[in-house]
Amino acid sequence: MDINKVGVVGCGLMGSGIAQIAAQAGCDVVVREVDEALCAKGKGKIEKFLGKAVEKGKMTEEDMNAVLGRMTFTTELSGFSECDLVVEAIIENLDIKRELFAELDTICPPHTVFASNTSSLSVGDMAASTNRAANFVGLHFFNPVPLMKLVEVVRTLETSDEAFDASCAFGEKVGKVVVRAKDSPGFVVNLLLVPYLLDAIRALESGVATKEDIDAGMKLGCGHPMGPLELLDFVGLDTTMYIADIMFHEFKQYRYSAPPMLRRLVASGRHGRKTRYGFYDYRK
Ligand code: 3HC
Repeated sequence: MDINKVGVVGCGLMGSGIAQIAAQAGCDVVVREVDEALCAKGKGKIEKFLGKAVEKGKMTEEDMNAVLGRMTFTTELSGFSECDLVVEAIIENLDIKRELFAELDTICPPHTVFASNTSSLSVGDMAASTNRAANFVGLHFFNPVPLMKLVEVVRTLETSDEAFDASCAFGEKVGKVVVRAKDSPGFVVNLLLVPYLLDAIRALESGVATKEDIDAGMKLGCGHPMGPLELLDFVGLDTTMYIADIMFHEFKQYRYSAPPMLRRLVASGRHGRKTRYGFYDYRK
């Protein structure tokens, strides 16, 4: 099964990156957002990223225009009727995702593979809202999608070999290293990353060191590109809390429980870089 025409639902941080790399890999891409303003905002993000690549001499202007020319933005799901693959990158809410997939199921032909970019929700639960559980996978990309080299391809109990192999091939086609994972909460990366991030907050909470020293420790001591508190600001404190809550609900283990400091920061609107204030202050 060859994947040449791709639909992406949601053009936020993750959706815009997924749409961009699919178009860069030569696929025709349809992107759906809920209104024209969000379509324009999503397209603007992709233009900005590609524009920077041109500035850095990593891409020609002609190539940038060709990539943009392969993308169509729409507010209608009906635009997905000819897609080989539809990747969902909307809000992490199981009911909303299930509703979306049930509707897509009535629009897309039987061969279309459905994929969710969920970081921690059950892919099998989403697949159960459709009549194509065999044609359903998780495709978990990492932020920033065009720069991070990994995609986790997730198979449920029902995923067919054909759909799984086609999804892995798609991951490679868009230039990623593929890690194959079962439909288990957090897959591989978040299973390990989330407790680490939460432990960094616990270390700060208990006064082991300053945030700067915790970050410097992990950057310089372990060669990570960002320290854990910097990374929390980058991923989003609200997003991390949400993922931790889902994982805690599944495993009932302390290592996935969101520390009080995280809840207080989220409640006060300090969500990280997106609100320009998290553990660090980006307002200046
Ligand atoms: N086009 C093409 N290339 C670009 C580019 C663009 N628009 N912008 C940057 N680049 C290239 C740069 O040229 C550079 O390449 P080079 O090394 O060949 O020169 C490279 O990308 C890195 O860019 P920068 O130098 O501008 O930025 P940094 O070196 O500061 O790296 C970063 C930024 C990649 C975000 C790095 O800090 C990093 O890897 N951070 C960790 C991110 C991470 O862990 N993400 C995963 C989060 S978890 C997640 O997403 C899962 C979810 O479920 C929670």
